Amino acid sequence: MTTICLGIEGTAHSFGAGIVTEDGEVLSNVWDMLSPAEGGIHPREASRHHADLGPEIIKTAMESAGIEFRDIDIVAFSRGPGLGPCLRTTATIARVLSLKLGVPLVGVNHCVAHIEIGCLESGFVDPVTVYVSGGNTQVIAFAGGRFRTFGETLDIAVGNMLDVLGRSLGMGFPAGPAIEREALKGTRYLPLPYSVKGMDLSYSGILTSARRLYDEGNSVQDISFSVQETAFGMLGEIAERALAHTKKKELLLTGGVARNNRLAELLEGVSERHGVVFHRVSPPLAGDQGAMIAWNGILSHRSGNHLEVRDSHVLPRWRTDEQDIDWRS
Ligand code: ATP
Ligand code: FE2
Repeated sequence: MTTICLGIEGTAHSFGAGIVTEDGEVLSNVWDMLSPAEGGIHPREASRHHADLGPEIIKTAMESAGIEFRDIDIVAFSRGPGLGPCLRTTATIARVLSLKLGVPLVGVNHCVAHIEIGCLESGFVDPVTVYVSGGNTQVIAFAGGRFRTFGETLDIAVGNMLDVLGRSLGMGFPAGPAIEREALKGTRYLPLPYSVKGMDLSYSGILTSARRLYDEGNSVQDISFSVQETAFGMLGEIAERALAHTKKKELLLTGGVARNNRLAELLEGVSERHGVVFHRVSPPLAGDQGAMIAWNGILSHRSGNHLEVRDSHVLPRWRTDEQDIDWRS
C-alpha cells in the first residue's frame, strides 16, 4: 500500500484539503475562499470560515479521492507563515485528526510548499523560483540546504498591490484576474515608478501612482496595462539576474499570481534568452490549496520530520529560508 498524506492549508483566506500519495499522485484537491464583500480579509472572520467549512472540505476531499479516514498515513498542515487566527484553527483541525487517527503530524512551510508542488508538476530538480501571491513576492533558489531568498519585495506583495489597486478601480476581490482582463484592452503605456533596488523590488510606489492616474481620469484599461508591464517587468529583471548569478537551468513560476498569462509570457521570454527551461504551475496548483501541503508533508516525513502535538505551535512569521530542506540535502 502506498503512503497517503492529507494536507490541510489555511494560512489566510482560503481553506483547502488535498490528498497526495508518496508517488506524487494528487488524488484530490478541494478548497474554498472567503471573499470579503469589501475591504481586506479580517483574520478572525477568515478563521471562522475555516472552522465552519473545514470539516466539510476535508470530507469532500476524502470522498473525491475515494478513500476513508483509515487510509490516511500522515496529516500535514500549513504551520506558517500566515495570519495567527487562521493558522491556529487549521493546526487545531490537523492535531485532532492526527491524534484520532494515530498518524504522524507534519508542519509544512507554506512558501516552500508552493515551490515543491511546482517541482513535482514540472519534474524540475533545482530551479530559480519566482513565487508571487497576495502575501509574498520572492525570487528563490536552493543553496546550502535551504531555499534562499535572492530578492523580494521591500513593502507589499505584487498580488496585494493588484488587489488593493483593484478595490480603488471598483473591482471585486481578488482583483488580479480583472486587472489581467482589462490590461488586454489597454493601448497606452502610462509611466509608473519602476522600482528595483539591487535584487529587491518595491510596489507601493506603483500603487500610489496608479491611483493618482485613475483620479486624473485615465482609463482602467490603460492603467491595468501599465501596472502589469511595470510590475511584471521588475520581476523579469530580478529573475534574469538570479539566473545569471546562480547558473541554474530551470525557471519556475508559482503562487496565485502565476495564473497571470502576461507574467508567464514575460518570464518565458527571460528563460528563452538564458537558454533555461520554464514552467508555470498550472492554475489549480498555483494558489493556496491542500495538495501542495500534502506533497510537502510526504517529502518532509520521508526525511524523518514530524511534530509532537505539544510542540506543534504555529509560526506566523516563518520565512522561506528558515527551514532546513533536509529532503533535498
Ligand atoms: P500567500 O499566502 O502565498 O501569500 P495568498 O493568500 O495570497 O498566498 P494565493 O491564492 O497564492 O493566495 O494568491 C492570491 C493572489 O493571486 C491574489 O492577490 C490574486 O489577485 C492573485 N491572482 C489570481 N489570479 C490572478 C491573475 N490572473 N493575475 C494576477 N493576479 C492574480
Ligand atoms: Fe500561498
